[in-house]
Amino acid sequence: MKHAELTTLQHDARAAIAAAVSVEALEQVRVEWLGRNGKLTGVLRTLKDRPLEERRTFGAEANTLRVELEHLLSAKQQQLSAKPALPIDLTIPGIMPLLGHPHPIRVMLERIENIFHGLGYDVAEGPEVETERYNFDLLNVPKDHPARDMHDTFYLTQRGLVLRTHTSPVQLHYVETHRPPVRVIVPGRVYRHEATDASHEASFFQCEGLVIDRGIRLTDLLGTFTHLFKSLFGAKVKLRFRPHFYPFTEPSLDVDMSCIICGGKGCPSCGQSGWLEMGGSGMVHPTVLEHMKVDPAVFSGFAFGVGVDRLMMLYEGVGDVRRSYSGDLRFLESIHLS
Ligand code: DAH
Repeated sequence: MKHAELTTLQHDARAAIAAAVSVEALEQVRVEWLGRNGKLTGVLRTLKDRPLEERRTFGAEANTLRVELEHLLSAKQQQLSAKPALPIDLTIPGIMPLLGHPHPIRVMLERIENIFHGLGYDVAEGPEVETERYNFDLLNVPKDHPARDMHDTFYLTQRGLVLRTHTSPVQLHYVETHRPPVRVIVPGRVYRHEATDASHEASFFQCEGLVIDRGIRLTDLLGTFTHLFKSLFGAKVKLRFRPHFYPFTEPSLDVDMSCIICGGKGCPSCGQSGWLEMGGSGMVHPTVLEHMKVDPAVFSGFAFGVGVDRLMMLYEGVGDVRRSYSGDLRFLESIHLS
């Protein structure tokens, strides 16, 4: 049977060794128990004062304890002085963070904005939730015009509000705060109740343009459009202007560009015609100028609207407009890298 005195010592010494957190702390523990004035050393020194029969067993046990503590100390010493193993492997190649980039539509808008910046245009935005008054009435769109039909327009439950079907209402907002001369483009998202297919989405982007000044003529519009499309698609593209009808312009023109896919010979993309429809335009209707509180006897202007998705698709060679809103990173990355 062990001596109780030694059992307590053993217990306390083991705990002290286990608790040491540094080589220095461990050395203090060693001195405290095994040093010249250490606790175990002190006990061994009392040996000679003990009764003869106790000396043998007590001495043997105390020595065994000393050997055990020396072992524990040296093991702990090794453990504390060993370099800690790194929790990570520094040689493994790093993980490249995925960097975002602007959406192809945004990039297209920036190309357009840069071209018009060069012509001294301002860039403005307007609300996507619009009043019927701005979306239709002030633009001279009659109450019975088919565009107001439920099939084209998203009407909101609050009476008189719609999701704007075009960027044209921003013409009116802009002129409220910027009096002529005015040169502005308005890029933005518009909404129509469309059955989606390869060339139609229920939400898409337009870029509106408006110029009002003294003496603005139709030829200014033709020149501006020609500059836009040649800047985007190269000097070789040809433009064709066709008479059309828009309630907010008079005269109104639709603009076609020679098909950049077949070079004007005719292919499936241009319906074999050699021409691609790019946008609507015209001279701002005198009634609209009046709604803007601009005197049509003094000022004239032109306006236009182009479909940005269409431009992006042609520019990037994308066949289906729906891909652009799919959120499919394979598509977005392929355009970004091209
Ligand atoms: N707002 C028309 C549309 O969405 C496009 C348009 C045509 C805009 C003629 C104009 C314009 O500013 O003069 O179909």
